[in-house]
Amino acid sequence: MQETIAPHGGLLIDRVLQGAQREAAAERLPGLRALTLNAREISDLEMIAIGGFSPLTGFMGEADYKAVVNEMRLANSLPWTIPITLSAAEEEARGIRIGEEVALVDEAAWPLAVMQVTEKFGYDKEAEARKVYKTAEEAHPGVSALYRQEPVLLGGPVSVVNRPGYEDFAAYRLDPAETRRKFIEKGWKRVVGFQTRNPVHRAHEYIQKCALEIVDGLLLHPLVGETKSDDIPADVRMRCYEALLESYYPADRVLLAVNPAAMRYAGPREAIFHAIVRKNFGCTHFIVGRDHAGVGNYYGTYDAQYIFDEFDPKALDIQPLFFEHTFYCKSCGNMASAKTCPHGRESHVVLSGTKVREMLAAGDIPPVEFSRPEVAQVLIEAMFVPGI
Ligand code: ADX
Repeated sequence: MQETIAPHGGLLIDRVLQGAQREAAAERLPGLRALTLNAREISDLEMIAIGGFSPLTGFMGEADYKAVVNEMRLANSLPWTIPITLSAAEEEARGIRIGEEVALVDEAAWPLAVMQVTEKFGYDKEAEARKVYKTAEEAHPGVSALYRQEPVLLGGPVSVVNRPGYEDFAAYRLDPAETRRKFIEKGWKRVVGFQTRNPVHRAHEYIQKCALEIVDGLLLHPLVGETKSDDIPADVRMRCYEALLESYYPADRVLLAVNPAAMRYAGPREAIFHAIVRKNFGCTHFIVGRDHAGVGNYYGTYDAQYIFDEFDPKALDIQPLFFEHTFYCKSCGNMASAKTCPHGRESHVVLSGTKVREMLAAGDIPPVEFSRPEVAQVLIEAMFVPGI
């Protein structure tokens, strides 16, 4: 059957070994030098292997890395905005021969993949920070993760032998091939993707439903890879979504699945990246609201929308849907934005994240204009769990 949209670069990458190939690699693994991956690198490895990062087949070599940092494209000129790299300590890298196969393992030494190291190269972290994150400040969570990386980058193709052994969200871990199959089964030709890392509130719901008015289906795709420590944990966010979907969404128009990627907080560049990733999962449209993937005051409210003008729409080949800052307006009696509401701020229900946290911690339910009560209930329960 005809697929709705081609993956980025035309081919859905599959680097998860099966059958005899997998067995052969599994036999080689114990004899290989082991490189330990952190949580973010494991997310990246998985995204490469399942095709979420198509057309990447491995961690970036120098030509792709430089083109991505400096020009927001891969060396073959395909749009790509975030470096996907694997770093190693100098001594560790020195011992690796070009062409050598290494084992990629997790922190418990569990082998995940074989990587053929085709390149080793140095890089300028500060230059990458300035270009990708638009700041060299360590206070930026993406920059601080970059500064914690080792000094040498290793490039080369990866082949996954054992998928990371996640125990959570099993029912929601759908690979791009699976979401694509589901869209076909459901008969959805136009599918809008929604990225999120925060608990769902009424503005999220509103922009999702506005988008749903003009397409066939919605892929709700919360990111569950590494996020900064003060973000609400993914399992709580998923429970919020389950509560919301049960009462307020038509079941046959929504697919909830998790995006195993790590958050970069790179604002505009990450909006492009998020769109490309959702195209790989089969989406034809992608929502970009206010300060998408932003953090603190590093990016302008709509920079993540303006950046789409810097790309040829045909090369991106996914339709962004832009939304203004939305809120509930008491005078309008519904959700609105500056584009649709003539009233002043005194009519608008706008709550900061900090204010909402304070309310939840005190056991107070935020106003229904801000959060569905079922969602607030999940959050309140989570706030009382020690450590959250
Ligand atoms: S993000 O880091 O994943 O972008 P969040 O989960 O808060 O954070 O946002 C998910 C999506 O909803 C993003 O596209 C964001 O721009 C959009 N969004 C969040 N809140 C609003 C709002 N009040 N008005 C319009 N868009 C919003």
